Amino acid sequence: MNKIYEKLLRCKEDVRRKINFTPKIGLVLGSGLGDFANEMKIEATLNYHDIEGFPVSTVAGHAGRFIFGYVGEVPVVCMQGRVHYYEGYPMEDVVLPIRLMKLLGAEILFLTNAAGGILQGMKAGDFMLITGQIASFVPSPLVGANIEELGTRFPDMSHIYDEDLQTIVKKTALENNIPLKQGVYIQMTGPQYESPEEVAMCRTLGAGAVGMSTACEAVAANHMGMKIVGISCIANMAAGITPTPLAHTEIQETADRVAPDFRKLVYESICRMGEIL
Ligand code: HPA
Repeated sequence: MNKIYEKLLRCKEDVRRKINFTPKIGLVLGSGLGDFANEMKIEATLNYHDIEGFPVSTVAGHAGRFIFGYVGEVPVVCMQGRVHYYEGYPMEDVVLPIRLMKLLGAEILFLTNAAGGILQGMKAGDFMLITGQIASFVPSPLVGANIEELGTRFPDMSHIYDEDLQTIVKKTALENNIPLKQGVYIQMTGPQYESPEEVAMCRTLGAGAVGMSTACEAVAANHMGMKIVGISCIANMAAGITPTPLAHTEIQETADRVAPDFRKLVYESICRMGEIL
């Protein structure tokens, strides 16, 4: 059997031995949403460290965990802490948790992240609904022998972000008075922030926000036929757009400042998604 798939099944069996909960939605918590689980009715948590074969760095103190529980009536598994390519993992490890959430039952993947804003008129603290993506600057997680059990060799990527789910998020934002921009997310490898010249390139390519995650996760999820929705928290304007240099602490502060609205937008959107599941 394919080694990557074998490892994935090992992780799945280990989770199943420990947790008896079937999620409908997989939610990846980006910066600013770390406390999201406080709003959930938690049924179980599982540290990544405790899953056999799961990609966790031996250097990172807090690798993260899965949180299983209910958002309203909707059974959800959250990833509190994601795996980034810039940490040095191969792409198949970066997307393993996404694939695992699908094998555990999740039909919808809800992606969130912090990103640098590129769109004209955007400002730090805005939210951007992801309408499309550019993943061409990072290796594809689908390189190598195709895992037929997951999806086809040459998956179509015409509609990565589900229209109906986008409509739900837009309605939720409107009804809660939360301003919501829309745009294309572009993934760079990081860990360095982009240079102003790279940001200019991203803008020329049509990107509205730039980050270091998400697009590769969406590629793997789309390969498996998941419905995908994504929101970026614009934690800063990308380099060169405003004169101030980027500092991680300030970016984190902005994400934390708008976190209550971000939590509300995601929470209410998920509740509504429960109605179409
Ligand atoms: N670039 C890339 N990733 C980011 C940024 C940025 O400006 N801000 C938050 N994550």
